[in-house]
Amino acid sequence: SWTMANVVEEQVAAIAAQIGDRRAICGLSGGVDSAVAAALVQRAIGDRLTCVYVDHGLMREGETEQIERDFVAVTGADLRVVDASEQFLTALAGVTDPETKRKIIGREFIRVFEQAALDVIADAKEHGETVDFLVQGTLYPDVVESGGGTGTANIKSHHNVGGLPEDLMFTLVEPLRTLFKDEVREVGRQLGLPDTLVQRQPFPGPGLGIRIIGEVTRERLDVLRQADAIAREELSAAQLDTEIWQCPVVLLADVRSVGVQGDGRTYGHPVVLRPVSSEDAMTADWTRLPYDVLAKISTRITNEVAEVNRVVLDVTSKPPGTIEWE
Ligand code: XMP
Repeated sequence: SWTMANVVEEQVAAIAAQIGDRRAICGLSGGVDSAVAAALVQRAIGDRLTCVYVDHGLMREGETEQIERDFVAVTGADLRVVDASEQFLTALAGVTDPETKRKIIGREFIRVFEQAALDVIADAKEHGETVDFLVQGTLYPDVVESGGGTGTANIKSHHNVGGLPEDLMFTLVEPLRTLFKDEVREVGRQLGLPDTLVQRQPFPGPGLGIRIIGEVTRERLDVLRQADAIAREELSAAQLDTEIWQCPVVLLADVRSVGVQGDGRTYGHPVVLRPVSSEDAMTADWTRLPYDVLAKISTRITNEVAEVNRVVLDVTSKPPGTIEWE
């Protein structure tokens, strides 16, 4: 639309003025907000923006490629992908408590991002340049919630962790501060970002790590990733994406369910479908999906994912149930 085209133009000019001929860094999460913020800054300062994507190995199928390939193709952004999946899995070994998982994933994320940022700073230094700015995809509702502050920050204060090396102090660039989510999506469209990215439903920072009930392992992630991809594919094919706020697929990795296949009994795991409708994730209702869509998802998952022999549907509202299972 005309208005959003204007927003793009104004923001690009404002960013160019703020950053001048200095350098900026931006962490991409795989989500809409950071991608749109980065694309705006890229348009303003080109390759003086370095994007960093920490691949924690907990993303869904195709999401890392979406950033690595599609985002870069459209924006031409200078992107550094850090494959840290081994580090995250090692740190998560033996951990089953949900809050401990979150803490570990948050902590490792900061460690990896911090090191990547230091590398970017060191590279800039070789050319006599400094990296003074950190780009963040803060939206208007986040600004209101946090009391409206702005200015300088470091990676840790954003994640509520204290103490940081001096050279990781940045001035914040927050080009989405006045926008609501649907406006951010529109800006993303204006910038040519693919629909798969722009329309992406909410996905938690700890990713699939909190959708495996039990210990997170590479094998379990592979199983869940396959089941989740099937569910998303069928929901999209049935054009239910806009009706559904999000649909976690949860692997009950410590539960074994008996099944039968051919001549033999199987001993696999159940996955839970958790489709919810919501306005803001504060409250939610379970989405009344058509039976034929549920049947298709169930048949495909049990046929195509060897370790899963049962698909169950979560019919709990929030409250009392949360959207995620942990
Ligand atoms: P719950 O499960 O509390 O989720 O109903 C509400 C919304 O928040 C998302 N969620 C998270 N997002 N880190 C995140 O970035 C987290 O640890 C986390 N836990 C839940 C959830 O997907 C839903 O959109």
